Amino acid sequence: MKIAPFKLERYFARYEFDVDYVLCASDCESLSVGDLLALEPGAAERFQQHWLGYTESLGSPTLRQEICRLYTTIAPEQVLVHAGAEEAIFLFMQAALDAGDHVIVHWPCYQSLHEVARSLGCTVTRWEAREENGWALDLDELRALWQPTTRAVIVNTPHNPTGYLMPAATYRELHTLALEREALLFSDEVYRESEHDLADRLPAGCDLGEHAVSLGVTSKTYGLAGLRIGWIATHNAELYRRMAALKDYTTICNSAPSEFLAELALRHRERLAARNLAIIARNLELLDAFFARRADRFAWQRPRAGAIAFPRLLGEQPIETFCDELVRAASVLLLPGTLYGHPGNCFRIGFGRENMPEALARLEQHLVGGG
Ligand SMILES: Cc1ncc(COP(=O)(O)O)c(C=O)c1O
Repeated sequence: MKIAPFKLERYFARYEFDVDYVLCASDCESLSVGDLLALEPGAAERFQQHWLGYTESLGSPTLRQEICRLYTTIAPEQVLVHAGAEEAIFLFMQAALDAGDHVIVHWPCYQSLHEVARSLGCTVTRWEAREENGWALDLDELRALWQPTTRAVIVNTPHNPTGYLMPAATYRELHTLALEREALLFSDEVYRESEHDLADRLPAGCDLGEHAVSLGVTSKTYGLAGLRIGWIATHNAELYRRMAALKDYTTICNSAPSEFLAELALRHRERLAARNLAIIARNLELLDAFFARRADRFAWQRPRAGAIAFPRLLGEQPIETFCDELVRAASVLLLPGTLYGHPGNCFRIGFGRENMPEALARLEQHLVGGG
């Protein structure tokens, strides 16, 4: 298997732990093990007693039971727990696709969503989100991209990097299309439950039929990336069986402490999400004001979900140079859109962290100082 380097992850590896401010994080504010254990009386004592042997390969039954609460039609045996969402993406592609298959991918996107399929010898076609359409996807365009060999459609909403949240009617129509045409629909829902208005929450893909797979994780909305607990949920028993068999070659089973903590966190997920949504709401107001003040430099579209957006730098300066100068001069990290292969001079900005106001102030100072 020949797979290209993951540009975004390599960029983070270079800077993430050395800069003063990561102003492009896609995950929300995290918390400590102690904070998490304090959510429930007796949890700290139970954690001390938690057994550190191998765990059940599919994920602990009680964790899978808890994950089911995110969905309306899913039973524990339809949930497969992984080491983060990333392992699940990798195994889904390995299990579902063969060389020569055609795959349609929501683009721009988190690189593994297209790169793993490409590395398997699939033909990958981009279903493009365009800035001028508010990053919306067009179903007629999808119909036009369809081929007799189309095996899977990969979508991500709420979306990395644009923050786009698909309208429910479009999302349902997309599922109908995949179902009618007998394609798999891989629905990357890692930013689900971070809708700024709860009424905008989409149904989970897995609840819409056997053709669909939902991808979830503790990393983003709940701020628990360090647990490395992700999962898929699906009614597709054959695909589930294949993914579970492949897991024997990657992680075998999940980290026992992480499973304990993930289960605890998910029992309190509404509280964790509410805390992070409050941070997002405060930060978004600051961003609206900032982008209004600096409309000469940036084009801004406020997203309806999640903790990231994809504004555009106006003028002649290439976004890579702008981000490079910012990180060197002000120790503030933004993510150039070129890392997604996107040519539009956009950058990813993150606003799910407590320290975003300070990071934004540094950015603004840099603009004043550096022009
Ligand atoms: C759309 C999308 N899917 C999957 C992942 C992987 O999530 P994790 O790092 O928790 O495995 C990410 C992480 O940024 C993402 O943005």
